[in-house]
Amino acid sequence: MSNETGQSELIEHYQSLLAKHGDSPQALQYRDAETQIARFKILSEIAPELNSVLDVGCGLGHLYLYLKSVGFSGQYVGVDIVPEFAEMAAKNFKEDPNVTIKLASGLDPLPTGCDFVMLSGVFNNRMPDNKSFMEATLHRMFTAAEKGIAFNAMTSYVDYHDDNLYYVDPMEVFAFCKNELGGHPVLRHDYVLSEGGFPFEFAVYVYKEPQY
Ligand SMILES: C[S@@+](CC[C@H](N)C(=O)[O-])C[C@H]1O[C@@H](n2cnc3c(N)ncnc32)[C@H](O)[C@@H]1O
Repeated sequence: MSNETGQSELIEHYQSLLAKHGDSPQALQYRDAETQIARFKILSEIAPELNSVLDVGCGLGHLYLYLKSVGFSGQYVGVDIVPEFAEMAAKNFKEDPNVTIKLASGLDPLPTGCDFVMLSGVFNNRMPDNKSFMEATLHRMFTAAEKGIAFNAMTSYVDYHDDNLYYVDPMEVFAFCKNELGGHPVLRHDYVLSEGGFPFEFAVYVYKEPQY
């Protein structure tokens, strides 16, 4: 994949990963299940109990499998731009009445009605204009959410850069969530994804109401 990836190139990139790896964390560009699940755990800590979740860039719906494994029994809606991901996820969960998978297109408004809107790994690929994409997506997520949003991104506080990945200053993202979204953000930059790892990413929760 080139350094400056547009949407069609991004779709092709994930199509080829899926063709190569099948239904697996590697098809979602993750090293392994451990690091993928570590991200889900952090995001799901936005609230002690989750009633309904919209997953933006859901891939194969692995967040739902994680949530179910820790007792979630609410509604899960997943959207993704890669038709093969949406088809495979819809097929995998077709017997489950709590799951809806939709093919998303570009920057269309997101489905409304879920308490929390989550996003994992979507901001990592370098694109022609990462900042605009990230801000527009956070706006759409915050508009769609009833209670708040949780997302992750790669931090600029690293000592090594992969040219294909997008690193962003967490303080700028925090300020955007506070000043532009008008929400109540929590910045988590305290975690690693595997034992002994480097803290190369951060997560943000943005609540609609201040927490008491
Ligand atoms: C790194 S993968 C993570 C998948 C999933 N969130 C997970 O953690 O298993 C990023 C996903 O975001 C999707 N994606 C990228 N841009 C998107 C957009 N604008 N709208 C919806 N999905 C998008 C990709 O197709 C891919 O499935």
